Amino acid sequence: MVTTGSTKEYLDPVRYISNESSGKQGYEIALALSKLGVKTTLIAGPSSINFSKDVKVKNVTSAKEMLEKVKNSLPVDIAICAAAVSDFKPRTIAKNKLRKSKDILDVVRLEKNPDILEFIGKNNKNRPRIVVGFSAETENLISNSYQKLKEKYCDIIIANDVSKKNTGFNSEYNKVSIINKKGKVESIPKNKKSYIASIIAKKIIDKFLVDDKTFN
Ligand code: PMT
Repeated sequence: MVTTGSTKEYLDPVRYISNESSGKQGYEIALALSKLGVKTTLIAGPSSINFSKDVKVKNVTSAKEMLEKVKNSLPVDIAICAAAVSDFKPRTIAKNKLRKSKDILDVVRLEKNPDILEFIGKNNKNRPRIVVGFSAETENLISNSYQKLKEKYCDIIIANDVSKKNTGFNSEYNKVSIINKKGKVESIPKNKKSYIASIIAKKIIDKFLVDDKTFN
């Protein structure tokens, strides 16, 4: 199971909180896994990608919907969370378009969204054998990402610096560091997201096939 893309958190019928994620990096990982013969489900936020028929796609809009689809897809052997889930959502969704003068300033209050990766990693009953998170950072990339690996109970976290325009969000390219539970870092230089995805997919399959102790 792979999550990808942004989520949209509506505050009225026409406005929402979201981000620049195109869904490409997660989609390329799902495609690479499928090509390696792994039965893969992609849970995708709003995206303009023309998905290949080789990947089973479940479309969602909000973080709440993404979490529901994730729960319905469990149990799985491997979970990879590449989605840029909105950390916050408006407490209520207004039925009608909010008026600019008063309503927006008075009405919009935010609350935290559930953390989908943490839910998967912590899950005692249906925990996948391998849980992989992504980490989007603009500073202290490795230390902040390793901290996230521990907080969200991941086996691997894939860190990308999202402060650059030509990699990360909504770009054809990415540059990542793969960090394992022991803090070992393996960096993949800038390349097309499809190439980065093929390396990540192979690494995850290797880890799945090989006993954990001998892998590291
Ligand atoms: O989609 P693209 O345009 O191809 O860009 C790819 C990407 C930059 C979005 C991708 O490589 C990436 O970094 N994805 C994670 C983005 C993110 O939201 O990172 P984070 O550091 O805020 O979150 C850490 C992890 O927690 C992620 O695995 C995220 O999916 C997960 N999370 C976060 C919040 C939340 N409420 N639920 C979650 O599951």
